[in-house]
Amino acid sequence: MQAFTAKLIAWQQAHGRHGLPWQNTRDPYAIWVSEIMLQQTQVATVIPYYQRFMARFPTLADLAAATEEDVLALWSGLGYYSRGRNLHRAALQVMECHDGAFPRDPSLIAELPGIGRSTAAAIAAFAFGRRLAILDGNVKRVLTRCFGIAGHPGDRAVENALWRQAEALLPESGIEAYTQGLMDLGATLCTRSRPRCAECPMSDLCFARRENRVRDFPGPKPRKALPEKATAMALLVCDGEIYLEKRPPTGIWGGLWSLPELPVGAPPEKSAAERYGVVVKSCQPLPGFTHTFSHFRLHIAPWLMAVRPGGKRAAEPGGLWLNLEEIRGAALPAPVKKLIADIQEKP
Ligand code: ADE
Repeated sequence: MQAFTAKLIAWQQAHGRHGLPWQNTRDPYAIWVSEIMLQQTQVATVIPYYQRFMARFPTLADLAAATEEDVLALWSGLGYYSRGRNLHRAALQVMECHDGAFPRDPSLIAELPGIGRSTAAAIAAFAFGRRLAILDGNVKRVLTRCFGIAGHPGDRAVENALWRQAEALLPESGIEAYTQGLMDLGATLCTRSRPRCAECPMSDLCFARRENRVRDFPGPKPRKALPEKATAMALLVCDGEIYLEKRPPTGIWGGLWSLPELPVGAPPEKSAAERYGVVVKSCQPLPGFTHTFSHFRLHIAPWLMAVRPGGKRAAEPGGLWLNLEEIRGAALPAPVKKLIADIQEKP
């Protein structure tokens, strides 16, 4: 057995977590529910939700017989509600496709909604003693540090290397303590920030520790050069009110109220007059700024325009005149709200 594996099992038995409500059972349903709740949520938060959930739905058949509404009510406050929806759908699927018996084959487990390869492996290991590797975010951190696996774990090649490493470390026996140990080490000692290396059973074999490079692992997501876009925004001001438009439901700032956008490069007062039927009394540029979205950077050139009261016409469908007080409480993108708040401070 590899040194890592032996040390991990010994450490789990002496220092790992043992009394958690989903431990000391072989019920795949109970284990499955816990693994789903623990996917994006810490143990301490999960425990009371788990206990309420299992009291209300003690078996998979109880869960399948419930409405989605009932399931989500018990999920309320735990976040990531697709987990609850998928759990319910998966319970129906097990009733329908597996006669109500939770599948034992990891590839069948992984076909259920909300269950990926790692969660399927964890369930199969804890419930059926199957010798399978897990690889969630915590485990990726432990393995990249311990074995000096460089690169971003989200990259396919790095992820493949991590799966290979995870599989090579599996013990011949004792998969339950080993799997729990990996989870416990990642959650309690080998944490993202301020890992407690002095207490770690791997400290003498950990690559990152030896090289004093714990901060370098896991490797960061490569910063890709984002595409750049530009827009002009009109602050049409009339009698202390500003004109806002509701954004389409999809795309950036979907469904929020925002400032009208004008074509870049065209004279803004002309565009505004044509599009919004306002007579522009004055027009001045405000300092431009850049907002970074996940997939592009948007350079915003704002134009402050006083429009003649007589020229103000009723808001078009999807348009609205609001005063500054109303804007403060409205659903606007934060950078747009800030832009509007900033003009208020000008004399
Ligand atoms: N995180 C994911 N699965 C877990 C488990 N079974 N115990 C503790 N933390 C976990």
